[in-house]
Amino acid sequence: MLNLSAIIAIVLIAAPAPALAADMARGAQIFKECRVCHSVVDETGTPVVRGGRTGPNLYGVIGRHAGSVPGFHYSTSMVAAGRAGLRWNEEDFVVYVKDATAYLRDYLDDPDARGKMAFKLRDTAKARDVWAYLESITVPGTP
Ligand code: HEC
Repeated sequence: MLNLSAIIAIVLIAAPAPALAADMARGAQIFKECRVCHSVVDETGTPVVRGGRTGPNLYGVIGRHAGSVPGFHYSTSMVAAGRAGLRWNEEDFVVYVKDATAYLRDYLDDPDARGKMAFKLRDTAKARDVWAYLESITVPGTP
């Protein structure tokens, strides 16, 4: 008969090592939640990932100025952040998706700033996975 500590030791040994690198495949799974509002459509109009239109097209989002997809109705705060120099990178992205309004208030140093994205992805590791996935399916945006 195994005693409890032996069982715990076996479980600990058998547990997979925590992933250090972002997990693109997991990011693809998580992105299903983003697809409710976001599509990824390339410059020829071909969908890379089909999704909703409540949020802007995320094709080319890597390095793109925030709030800059032509024809999309952004919040005033998002446009202001882009004009102030915000270009999407991993570090800003993971904080933004945690809480869009809180991020914009901080970025713009304006307590009245307000973002239009209601969805919150609070888990930083998951956000990094989504970023890795986005990097894998899209091209760097034009500055
Ligand atoms: C309920 C709808 C909704 C969901 C779900 C959603 N978003 Fe958004 N997203 C928006 C809207 C609306 C905006 C525009 C925000 C603004 O103008 O303030 C936006 C903006 C963005 C931007 C900024 C894009 C730009 O052009 O500046 C990024 C990046 C983004 N979302 C990523 C994500 C990711 C990643 C997920 C999933 C983890 C996600 N969103 C889920 C609605 C959504």
